[in-house]
Amino acid sequence: MSQLDLVIIGSGPGGYVAAIKAAQLGLKVALVEKDPNLGGTCLNIGCIPSKALLHSTELWHQTQHGKKHGIVGADKLSFDVAAMMSNKEKVVTQLRAGVKTLVSKRGVEIVQGLGRLGGAGKVVVRSDKGEERVLETRNVVIATGSVPVELPFMKFDGETVISSDQGIALPKVPERMVVVGAGAIGLELGSVWARLGAQVTVVEMLPAIGGPSIDADIAKVAQKAFEAQGIKFELGAKVTGVKKGPGGSALTAERDGKPLEFPADRILVAVGRKANTTGLGAQEAGLKLDERGRIVIDDHFRTNLPGVHAIGDVVVGPMLAHKAEEEGVAVAEIIAGKPGHVNHALIPGVIYTDPEVANVGLNETEAAAKGLDVRVGKFAVAANGRAIAGDATAGLIKVVADAKTDKVLGVQMVARGASEMIAAACAHMEYGGSAEDIARTCFAHPTVSESFKEAAMAVSKSSIHSL
Ligand code: NAI
Repeated sequence: MSQLDLVIIGSGPGGYVAAIKAAQLGLKVALVEKDPNLGGTCLNIGCIPSKALLHSTELWHQTQHGKKHGIVGADKLSFDVAAMMSNKEKVVTQLRAGVKTLVSKRGVEIVQGLGRLGGAGKVVVRSDKGEERVLETRNVVIATGSVPVELPFMKFDGETVISSDQGIALPKVPERMVVVGAGAIGLELGSVWARLGAQVTVVEMLPAIGGPSIDADIAKVAQKAFEAQGIKFELGAKVTGVKKGPGGSALTAERDGKPLEFPADRILVAVGRKANTTGLGAQEAGLKLDERGRIVIDDHFRTNLPGVHAIGDVVVGPMLAHKAEEEGVAVAEIIAGKPGHVNHALIPGVIYTDPEVANVGLNETEAAAKGLDVRVGKFAVAANGRAIAGDATAGLIKVVADAKTDKVLGVQMVARGASEMIAAACAHMEYGGSAEDIARTCFAHPTVSESFKEAAMAVSKSSIHSL
């Protein structure tokens, strides 16, 4: 092959989007992927399959609670985990094919194998059979993603101690599931298995669920809603290990020096993910990593090696598919000589439970830590007509605005449909909108989204539908 303009290592949402964008901009591109399928963690074992399972189990859960809507006989219904898994596979297969078509129709060459840095202007790709091919290129983008963090004192065994990789593919519903970590993965997969009847206990070391970026009021409302669905939370508990015996297994933990024990068939460890640079030849190439193993980049995604860039989970920032996608577009633009840019201050976060948790920008605590003077508007979703009609009253929306200028600094939501609603907040904030701008925007009635408008109105104490 003659010299390429760009070789991208990793075909997740960061890598494949960068490949498409670069090809659109006229670059000659190769996309290197070690797995047989494109799409990375998000498409194959993360965002997409978990959403399919969340939808299947939400349907089941809602049917079970349909009596007041006149749906009778739900107690005679049953579910089939294998069918749910095969539906999930169909969704993933369809999207894999879609990504492959999008990439190849743009003239990007897909090269299967493990890519590693092979010295200036070279990427070496090693196939499963051990054959090596050298790609010569002007530029490299590393988009190798992340892998689950393993607790050193309770290694993944794929049976009792599992990661999300197995958590989205269990053959049957565990009787008792203990989830370590009340972050996005713990709450989403905890919800899936709890809806199917597992007794789910979430053990979290922090005093609140959702991780530090979730507003305290939002976390409380979310926790209450999940508890109503049967999920138990053990907060402020430090995990110490796992006991395995003939009578079953148990997670051990301690709180305030007191030992705790939680019997479990499956222990899902969801305590975060870490940058993946395995097989990349980072050390040999002299690629600079930070103390957490992430590739160090500057504000143009450039690493310390000339012509080598990095994006997505393998670099600093939230490990989110849409963050990687934005970086994929920007890095391709930069390499093509254009001004690529990502507004990292406005990357939304979503937890796809029911209700969903979503946020963008600063919450009250973060704004206070920056010394900002803010006004906060709140609206309880329980007062929204559409939410009442749709059994979706668990929820709260908060809008944080600058006290002087009224510019929106952040929006936090817990509500059914929050993952879709947060897009309006992102758009308003990208344009530097004020709380009054939202309050004066016409939202369709009846929609749960009106709660967002009402929260914006509440910033100036002018909410119509709350006192
Ligand atoms: P996370 O960072 O979101 O949450 C991990 C939780 O585990 C935190 O609340 C943390 O305090 C807790 N924790 C850490 N060590 C612990 C210990 N020893 N004992 C008890 N609790 C402990 O990580 P998670 O859920 O594993 O997700 C990994 C990454 O994938 C995150 O960056 C997340 O944002 C991303 N992701 C995003 C999704 C989404 O956008 N919906 C879905 C799934 C994952």
